[in-house]
Amino acid sequence: MSPPAALPRSTPRPLGSLPRVALALAMAGATGCAGDAPQPDPGPRPDFQPTTTVEELMRAVIDPAADAVWDAVVITSTRDGIDREVPDSDDDWLALEHHAVRLLESGNLLQIEGRPIAAADSVSELPGIDLEPADIAVRVAAQYDAWLRSSRELHDAGVVVLEAARARSVDALLESGDRLDAACESCHSRFWYPPDAAETAAGTNGATTP
Ligand code: HEC
Repeated sequence: MSPPAALPRSTPRPLGSLPRVALALAMAGATGCAGDAPQPDPGPRPDFQPTTTVEELMRAVIDPAADAVWDAVVITSTRDGIDREVPDSDDDWLALEHHAVRLLESGNLLQIEGRPIAAADSVSELPGIDLEPADIAVRVAAQYDAWLRSSRELHDAGVVVLEAARARSVDALLESGDRLDAACESCHSRFWYPPDAAETAAGTNGATTP
C-alpha cells in the first residue's frame, strides 16, 4: 500500500487523523541544528494545533483520567476486616485501559510547542500557593528540557497503568498509581508551585530556581 498522497500543509486535519507524534518529537530534538547544505523538500509535516491550554488539558483529560485510576481500588478497614473494592469486570478494566490511553497520550500532547499555559484571563486560584500562568510560562521557557522530560514521564507512567490494566492486576495498578502521582507532582512542583513551595515539595529535585 502506498502512503497517502501529500496533503497541502494548510489542510485541516481532524483530530482523529493525527500522524505519528514521534515525528514531531524528532523534529523537536533537531532544533538548533541548522543544516549547512540545502535540504531536500521534507514533504508534508505534522500540523499540530495546540488549540486548548495546558490548564484545559489538565481539567478535561488528565485530571479525570488520573482520578479514575486512583479511585479504582478502594481498601477500607472495617470491623469485619479489610474490605477491598477493586475492578472486577471486563468493563471496569477496559475503562481503566482507556483512561491510561488518555494519560499517556497527554504526555505527547503536552510536548506540542506553542500550547498556552492558560487562557489570557485565567488567574491563579490560590495566589501565593500556585504560580500565575504568565510566571509558569516563563519557567517552562527557561527549563524547556525539564518540561519535555516531565511530559515524557507522564507518558511512561501512563504506559505502566495501561500494562497493569491489560494484565488485570490490582497490585500492578496500585503501583502504577504511585508512579503516576509522582509524575504529576514532579512537574507541578517544578512549574506550578512558587519557588519556595517547589523546593520543599521536590527537595533537591527542585533544581534551578530562576
Ligand atoms: C509536564 C507538566 C505537567 C504534568 C506532567 C502534569 N501537570 Fe497538571 N499542571 C501543570 C501546569 C503547568 C499546571 C498549571 C496550569 C494552570 O492552571 O495555570 C497544571 C495544573 C493542574 C491542575 C489544575 C487545573 C486548574 O483547574 O487550574 C490539575 C487538577 C492538574 N494539573 C492535574 C494533574 C494531574 C492529575 C497530573 C498527573 C496525572 C498532572 N496534572 C500532570 C503541569 C503538569
